[in-house]
Amino acid sequence: MEPILQLESARLLMRQWRDEDLPDFAAMCADPQVMRYFPAPLSRLESASMIGRVRGHFAEHGFGLWALERKDTGQFIGFTGLGMVGFDAPFTPAIEIGWRLARQHWGLGYASEAAWTALRCGFDRLVVDEIVSFTADSNLPSQKVMQAIGMHHDPLDDFEHPKLDAGHPLRHHVLYRINREQWLQTLHG
Ligand SMILES: CC(C)(COP(=O)(O)OP(=O)(O)OC[C@H]1O[C@@H](n2cnc3c(N)ncnc32)[C@H](O)[C@@H]1OP(=O)(O)O)[C@@H](O)C(=O)NCCC(=O)NCCS
Repeated sequence: MEPILQLESARLLMRQWRDEDLPDFAAMCADPQVMRYFPAPLSRLESASMIGRVRGHFAEHGFGLWALERKDTGQFIGFTGLGMVGFDAPFTPAIEIGWRLARQHWGLGYASEAAWTALRCGFDRLVVDEIVSFTADSNLPSQKVMQAIGMHHDPLDDFEHPKLDAGHPLRHHVLYRINREQWLQTLHG
């Protein structure tokens, strides 16, 4: 299948990463508020290496975390997209949906708008049966996006993140899921 390099929503371009995105991306990932539900903010080198991994995921799978660009200003504001879950858990193998936006672009509906577009891509074009999302149980803003796009949470699915040490305050994760039928119901009521 042709790689899905670009998507578009009402207010956003979801595009491939440019080298020029690095300063804004690194600033976003160095912001302790943006990274408060992750083990630590990222250094510039770690952000650069994440862009490399995202590009590698597109090359391998034909989809990934799209860079978000506001159509009104042309600004890079973060990412939203789909990825193969990179660890073993009771729900893997699975395709996850995820997002991270720079703080000045929160509260404007951009994450949910991009998430709807990525979800549609997953079900319509990649023809997957189910998409999951997960986050630290304390990350309520991210769970609001999951709920906004029609994802469902069953506490029986919650898990301890295998890449975090036992006792780490972010280790307990909630899992949200949505399958094709649920997505169609959300779309058509
Ligand atoms: C998670 C994250 C992307 C959510 O961003 P967000 O801007 O709150 O999410 P949305 O795009 O859904 O915006 C919803 C808010 O915009 C408001 N809004 C304004 N205009 C809107 C519009 N046109 N459409 C929808 N919502 C709109 C909503 O009322 C809502 O506000 P509220 O949170 O005060 O109720 C953001 O908090 C973030 O980047 N966090 C750090 C990274 C992170 O934790 N990522 C997830 C790891 S799993």
